[in-house]
This record gives sequence, structure tokens and C-alpha cells, in this order.
Amino acid sequence: MTVIAIDGPAASGKGTLARRLAVHLGFAFLDTGLLYRAVGLAVLRTGGDPSDPVAAARAAHGLDLGSLDDPALRDEATAAAASQVAAIPDVRAALLDLQRRFAKTPPRGEPGAVLDGRDIGTVVCPDAEVKLFITADLPTRARRRWRELAAKGEAADLSAVQAEMAARDRRDAERGVAPLTRAADAILLDTTNSDIEAVFKAALRAVEEKIGRSLGGPSTA
Ligand code: DC
Repeated sequence: MTVIAIDGPAASGKGTLARRLAVHLGFAFLDTGLLYRAVGLAVLRTGGDPSDPVAAARAAHGLDLGSLDDPALRDEATAAAASQVAAIPDVRAALLDLQRRFAKTPPRGEPGAVLDGRDIGTVVCPDAEVKLFITADLPTRARRRWRELAAKGEAADLSAVQAEMAARDRRDAERGVAPLTRAADAILLDTTNSDIEAVFKAALRAVEEKIGRSLGGPSTA
């Protein structure tokens, strides 16, 4: 079982990269941010406070994996709630087993798994064969998110998007449990000035070097 752990801050490009690597290699893919988003959204929908440990832990234990395609999971309000519930140790503990099981036993018997998040290489899968840390500077990431919002027809103020992203970065990096940090053995890829094609190629090279064999996949996409 080959596990590829991809971590990094919001809008660094890690999700696009992770999905693409998984398709190319024929591996299973888990966007672990969606789990925290689902917990945050469940708390918001019951009118609760995402920073309330009791409400958040209850939502985490009742997490419905069948509801991970709800478009509201992509909302900015959900992202902020996700970052709040993610700082609560009980929430992280409730989601840990699920993520590890996915990595160890991919759902459709795939030969490997790609997981992306904030603590995959450090906490969830510290023994992953390949660890990548994807980053980009804050203004670049804020602009990407702002463009995504505009494409969805959600006009937003760029400086407000950047301020919200900076607050989320801080919460994710400064929390006491499983903070966003680069694992000592993670390969750093900075996407500030690279397009997705260049990042994908660099990541694939790193994967091949680490695993020590050429990994062909069912698709070259
Ligand atoms: O990757 P994302 O933007 O969908 O993540 C949403 C929030 O969830 C993020 O602000 C922090 C949290 N998260 C986490 O703490 N650990 C993970 N492995 C993934 C996400």
C-alpha cells in the first residue's frame, strides 16, 4: 500500500494536485478538509457555535460520509467553521481513525491512497512513503480564492478574502493539536509562480524518486 501525504495551506493548489496524482496513479483520494468542513457545516446548521467543543464533537461523531458532496461545503462560511472545529482535540480524534482506515484500506481496493490536508504527513500518516508540502505566498492564494469566488458568481472584496485567509492560516498553524506544519521529511513545492502542470510534473518526479520505480497509471491526465 503506497500512501502519498499532501499538506499545505488553503488555496496552495494541494487539492488539485492531490486529485490529479490520484487519477494518474489509479489511487484512492481523500480530501480530508471536507471532513472538517462537514463537521463545521453540521454545527452551523443546528445553529451552534463551531468553537463550542461539545457541539463540534457531537457533529464529528455523527458525521455522515454520504453527505460530502453538498455544495455548501465549499462556502467561505463553512471554511471558517471548519477551521474552528479543527482546533478541537475531540473532533480531530473522532476523524483520525476514519482517515487512517482510508489510507490503509482504500474503499475500492486501490493499490494506494492520496490524502490531502494539514496534518497528513505529521499525524494521520506519519509513515507515508511520500510526503509533499505545497505552499504559495498569501497574496497569490488569496487571489486564487477570490477568482474562484468570482467564477461562482460570488463577488467578494480581495482584501477581505486575504484577511480571512490570513486568519484561517493563523488558526490552522497556531492550534495546540496537529497544527499545520511541514513534516521534516516532506518535499516542499512552492506554487506561487508555477502553473498546475509544472507542479504536477515536479510532484510526479518526487513520487517516482521516492518510491524508486516508474509509476504508470491508467491515465496520463
Ligand atoms: O483544506 P480545506 O480548506 O478544505 O480545510 C478546511 C479546514 O479544515 C482548514 O482550515 C483546517 C481544517 N483541516 C485540518 O485541520 N486538518 C486537515 N487534515 C484538513 C483540514
